[in-house]
Amino acid sequence: MTWLLLLSLLLFYGGQRSSACPEPCSCAGSQVNCSSRLLTSASMPTSFPAGTTHILLHNNLLTTFPKGLLDGLTSLLHISLHGNPWICDCGIFYLRTWLRHQSLQTPPHLGVNCSSPASLRGRLVVYLTEEEVLESCQYWYCDLALASVLSLFVFVGFQAGLLVAVIVFLKRFERLSKEAKRTTEESFTAGDNHRDNSYGLLKDSSI
Ligand SMILES: *[C@@H]1O[C@H](CO)[C@@H](O)[C@H](O)[C@H]1NC(C)=O
Ligand SMILES: *[C@@H]1O[C@H](CO)[C@@H](O)[C@H](O)[C@H]1NC(C)=O
Repeated sequence: MTWLLLLSLLLFYGGQRSSACPEPCSCAGSQVNCSSRLLTSASMPTSFPAGTTHILLHNNLLTTFPKGLLDGLTSLLHISLHGNPWICDCGIFYLRTWLRHQSLQTPPHLGVNCSSPASLRGRLVVYLTEEEVLESCQYWYCDLALASVLSLFVFVGFQAGLLVAVIVFLKRFERLSKEAKRTTEESFTAGDNHRDNSYGLLKDSSI
């Protein structure tokens, strides 16, 4: 019963938050103004209220656009994204695809241009060809492949080290057990001698 109450409270406040104005933007009606707030891709809002019609995100420090951020905003009429230093690598695909499929009142792709890489600087994101974006993906995948190969080498090196350690340990163990065996044998023979002696002594004294 109590947890049901807590759950509904949580849902209520969760619901409240999603329709509240996202930090650090200002809202007027169904317009969310997040422009000129030094927003980075990390500090930008992670969701917008369901009925939002206008989103202003221009003149910030956005480099990548979170995948899926605009999905489900069915009432959207206008979004401004110009004046941001977009990085046109593999991560720009979502924004490019989204911009391509828009039929908003005002074309949102104007001024949405690349700041890097140098070869694509100034190009409009919406007009990048698939090959141009894929080229950066190639580097991205290359880096990933390189990283995995490097980590494989490190792993194999570690395994080899472990194997050498095991061999060294086994060798030492073998030597130690040989030594131990020898000492026990020696002490046994010494003990036998001793026992013989004492037996002799016993025999002597019994006589
Ligand atoms: C949006 O916010 C910025 C910064 O506070 C302000 O300069 C601008 O006038 C606002 N724009 C609108 C349309 O409210
Ligand atoms: C890129 O966008 C900025 C701001 O949106 C604009 O000032 C600049 O002229 C654009 N550059 C090109 C080459 O289109």
